[in-house]
Amino acid sequence: MNPVSRFVRLASLLVSEALAPRTLQRIPEPAVVMEDPERVRAFHDQGDPSTGPLLPVYHLNAVATSRLMPLGGRLLDGGSGSGRNLIYLARCRQDIRITGLDMSGEMVSLGNAEIRKAGLEDRVRLVVGDMTDLEAGVQDRVDVVSSIFAFHHLPRREALHQCLESMARLVDRFGCAVWSFDHARPRLRWTADIFPGIFTPESPDFFNRDSTNSLKASFSFEELSASFDACFPGRTVAHARSKLLRLYQVHWMPGKRSGSIADPSRELNEDRLPADARKAYRSLQWLFRSTPLIRGAPPSAASQEAP
Ligand SMILES: C[S@@+](CC[C@H](N)C(=O)[O-])C[C@H]1O[C@@H](n2cnc3c(N)ncnc32)[C@H](O)[C@@H]1O
Repeated sequence: MNPVSRFVRLASLLVSEALAPRTLQRIPEPAVVMEDPERVRAFHDQGDPSTGPLLPVYHLNAVATSRLMPLGGRLLDGGSGSGRNLIYLARCRQDIRITGLDMSGEMVSLGNAEIRKAGLEDRVRLVVGDMTDLEAGVQDRVDVVSSIFAFHHLPRREALHQCLESMARLVDRFGCAVWSFDHARPRLRWTADIFPGIFTPESPDFFNRDSTNSLKASFSFEELSASFDACFPGRTVAHARSKLLRLYQVHWMPGKRSGSIADPSRELNEDRLPADARKAYRSLQWLFRSTPLIRGAPPSAASQEAP
């Protein structure tokens, strides 16, 4: 697609998503657990640390997670895939330990091989496990529990509630922080269909088909916010959706040890990103410009945005 038609499509997407009534109901992922080796490899490659289009997303998540994470903290991540974002975070935060849980043996073995190659096996490990029962992955304590690009893989709302309730039990037990990032389902099926052609035109078909399916399988911002509120009774979870391109959502809650370090790491500076990824990261950060945790305020200043 040439740059002019890309721009025209993007403009039509933004206008129609802002004005059209919702007609797209949730369509669960055709394959909930990513076991197919080609699909696993296609997803893994998109997180390549020098060229992968997922790098800006990984950086944004590393920044937010890190702001919630105390010194020497422990992260438990559900639906971690091959853990590329966890490796990225571990390189930025050399003081922390990470356990990632994924139902796919294929993802876990590819990821653990990558972790060994990176020499991070003392601090990062992936295990086969179910994010609807996160407690099974707990070794001693948890300081942040997270899930990134994974809620949309859960088949039904009941499974989402099991996952969130298991996060809430970890909060009761450890006083840990919560962080989640995912797509927000578009209003129109057309948006999901044209999204990859606009944003990742160079990526393989496998990955782009996955992106379309992921958008269709995502929970809307209103659905996910309501589910968090229902599963964390008596607690305040902050909710935010990206502005303008309203297809990403984050939900978080500081933990009792969050904010104990002011500048978590110099390594989280965006200069570590290759030039194209840095530009894309700045755009993504701009879409969340009213979200204090992403903009750079301390976690205690997290504010609620109305759904
Ligand atoms: C799109 S990938 C995201 C991977 C990673 N978080 C990232 O951002 O790179 C979603 C992952 O969720 C996994 N998954 C699906 N259902 C799951 C469950 N109930 N428990 C754990 N993992 C699950 C899939 O196997 C897949 O690897």
